[in-house]
Amino acid sequence: MGGARLTGEVRVTGAKNSVLKLMAASLLAEGTTVLHEVPDILDVEYMSELLRRLGCEVVRDGATRSVAIAVPEVPSHKADYDLVRKLRASINVLGPLLARCGQADVALPGGDNIGSRGLDMHVAGLERLGATVRSEHGFLIATRDDRLHGATVWLDFPSVGATENLLMAGVLAKGTTVIDNAAREPEIVDICSMLIAMGAQIDGVGTSTLEIEGVESLSPAEHTTVPDRLVAGTWAVAATMTRGDLTVRNARPDHLEIALDKLVSAGALVDELDDGFRVRCHDRPRAVDVVTLPYPGFPTDLQPQFIALNSIARGAAMVTENLFEARFRFVNEMVRLGADVRTDGHHAMVRGKESLSGAPVEAADIRAGAGLVLAGLVAEGVTTVYEPHHVDRGYEGFIDDLVRLGADVSRISVNQLS
Ligand code: EPU
Repeated sequence: MGGARLTGEVRVTGAKNSVLKLMAASLLAEGTTVLHEVPDILDVEYMSELLRRLGCEVVRDGATRSVAIAVPEVPSHKADYDLVRKLRASINVLGPLLARCGQADVALPGGDNIGSRGLDMHVAGLERLGATVRSEHGFLIATRDDRLHGATVWLDFPSVGATENLLMAGVLAKGTTVIDNAAREPEIVDICSMLIAMGAQIDGVGTSTLEIEGVESLSPAEHTTVPDRLVAGTWAVAATMTRGDLTVRNARPDHLEIALDKLVSAGALVDELDDGFRVRCHDRPRAVDVVTLPYPGFPTDLQPQFIALNSIARGAAMVTENLFEARFRFVNEMVRLGADVRTDGHHAMVRGKESLSGAPVEAADIRAGAGLVLAGLVAEGVTTVYEPHHVDRGYEGFIDDLVRLGADVSRISVNQLS
């Protein structure tokens, strides 16, 4: 039910897009790795199940938000389609399994419905390190005869997933691996910190050239996951759209510089705090242009939320999506809510309207789901977001937090709708 102002405090946990990779990285060392600030979300459950099938013991301690992963001396090396199709990040076990076990059979992933997402850079990079990779019966099968060997890999594009897989393969390779045009996301810095704590030697962390000196073996580590900048950013947009006042704790404003700056341009007041930030907005926001780019550019994972914001803003804005072409499918759902959005290729022109009108809509991926919930918060009447499991993949306790902050939101089962 639209119309509430969100006010109060909310705490963000560790980043989904980091913790899934940290869990995969635990495979690189025999013994028990302990991760802290692990969000209680569906994707973490899927990754836990995947690791269990590879022979690991995974135990979550809800009270401390920690997960302990006990990795056997020789993990098994097959990641089946039933799990991989639910979780694209399963592809992140490719690098560590190949490095540790000499073989990785990973079903070709599905995951988000946000367009074709190739694996060409993962494959070409691993081949440069000495792997043989083939595709057979829906599986990507990577093998090596001997230990992987260091090499220089130039990525065509700073792919997050390819950078992570090559890092995890390179840390156990013989000699020096250089990843050029590497991704620089805070989640990449986070996995580098954990790998270094495990005994890896990595230079250039946080830059686009990573230099890895391979070691013979790694040891398990204890690591605290970097806070989720995308969840924090979603709250910041929610505060602005609802003309609310939210204090977001355990957040890193330095990881959200462009997005927070855009919100200031939209008319919000943003204060940095020791452990987070506060966002307030008193008036109807102004429309702001955004262009998605790899970090430190504007994140594609906040693009739908900004389309939602622009759709009720004063003025018009151009939103350009450079990473995932199909992310604009979400626009059709916004139009169902009365938004004035037109797309042409990878541009969307959004003309802000005084109000949206609630309607049934469907979430096609995590961020589209979040964008639709935000739109529902400001639409007149009731908005029903179908397929909310997408939101559960990335946002811990979203509905509970929204209710606590003053929104009129509830989860209903499909039977209640009919
Ligand atoms: N790409 C290729 N070939 C490759 C690898 C990537 O063409 O070998 C293309 C993809 O098709 C895509 C672009 O490069 O168009 C970006 O892909 P990238 O590898 O950088 O992204 P990813 O690792 O698949 C992660 C996040 C996404 C996030 C992107 C960009 C995880 C599990 N996923 O995906 O998060 O949007 O980086 O920052 O970390 C989300 O959380 O909602 C989400 C989709």
